[in-house]
Amino acid sequence: MKNFSLEMRTKIYFGKNSIENLNNHIPDYNNILLVYGKGSIKKNGIYEDIYKILNKFKINVYELNNIKPNPEITKVYEGIKICKENKIDLILAAGGGSVIDTAKAISAGVYYQDDIWELFLKDDKIEKSIDIGVILTLSATGSEANANSVIQNDKRKEKLAIHNDMIRPKFAILDPYYTLTVSKYQTACGVADIFAHILEQYFYPEKDAYIADRLAESLMRSVIKFGEILITDLNNIEARAEIMWASTLALIGILKAGKYGDWASHTLEHELSAYYDIAHGAGLAIIFPAWLKYVYSDDKGWKYREYGINVWGINPDLTDKEIAEKSIEKTINFFKKLELPVTLKEANIDDKYITEWAENIINRLPSKEIGNFKKLNKEDIINIYKLAL
Ligand code: NZQ
Ligand code: ZN
Repeated sequence: MKNFSLEMRTKIYFGKNSIENLNNHIPDYNNILLVYGKGSIKKNGIYEDIYKILNKFKINVYELNNIKPNPEITKVYEGIKICKENKIDLILAAGGGSVIDTAKAISAGVYYQDDIWELFLKDDKIEKSIDIGVILTLSATGSEANANSVIQNDKRKEKLAIHNDMIRPKFAILDPYYTLTVSKYQTACGVADIFAHILEQYFYPEKDAYIADRLAESLMRSVIKFGEILITDLNNIEARAEIMWASTLALIGILKAGKYGDWASHTLEHELSAYYDIAHGAGLAIIFPAWLKYVYSDDKGWKYREYGINVWGINPDLTDKEIAEKSIEKTINFFKKLELPVTLKEANIDDKYITEWAENIINRLPSKEIGNFKKLNKEDIINIYKLAL
């Protein structure tokens, strides 16, 4: 096992009516910035639930709303301004990954000496941040309890991430009932994203982390089981709850304890989101099968064997290559069952920008390579996009 450090400081309140726990946190603050998206929380009553609690306290509440999916840096600038002008001491994010990631970038940006986009370009140190509380309304990214923020810069056609424990939320409210209004498509995208997060950490070229990998397999089986239930029965609250917990566990850090991840597929997907504003989970359902096909080699067949047998129940008597082929087929069928696109064509994306995307990715990296399971250069990246066509 590799050495690792793991911080999981987010206090999680899980279950029906867990919003009541806001009552314990709000008295610690004076000026709160409530961040939310384009209105779903107003339609489904979550906004009202939040204010029922906020209104009990002598605090000032400010709002930043209209955060779009694939959130834009301009909203982060707006939020930083509000925080500076009003001495905000808690940012309360009520939404999915886009809202939470915006809150995180604001939290770091208030104290960052430079333009906050520089932080995304350099993934620089964050010395100080504002506390963040989360009310999760969509199960997908794991942003509710992790240290990442992914933000888009539409002008520059870039979608980049920062990773720092300083932006890990202080507390997160996870009420599966709050996800009952999420559409079928967004639910499916969320399930695909969770599954992809596990795959990114699972596919690593060394047999280094037995516990992390067995946890990953168990989590993948659960995501398949409850994802398939949910897609035919969106009101199944048990499945909503299991998927919500899976989203948090998939990216809280335990699955990479003792190993490193790969994350090339996410990097390739972020180019799709930056150019086409495609939902992140849908982009991953397109990229991941192509990546799985492309990076197979006989010396790494053992990993596909583990994946095929332990996740998909494939016959162990088959060769590594046969197991790999069957497990990729099963993965594609899973995404299809979720009614997601599995090729670029199905998402109405052609080959126009493939070389540009590969150049964007490679030019950002001093090593000119991405991924760990297989190191990918520009040619490899182009080939994977082509396989995804
Ligand atoms: O804006 P509103 O009206 O709230 O509607 C949202 C949005 O249209 C809607 N929604 C959310 N909760 C709802 C709801 N609709 C009905 N009922 C509810 N309860 O869902 C739509 C999508 O929301 P969004 O937040 O964009 O989805 P998601 O949680 O999938 O977040 C995606 C973003 O997170 C990034 C992605 O790249 C993408 O930008 N990621 C963040 C990560 C992280 N911080 O660790 C890791 C991921 O790999 C990912 O890159
Ligand atoms: Zn993701």
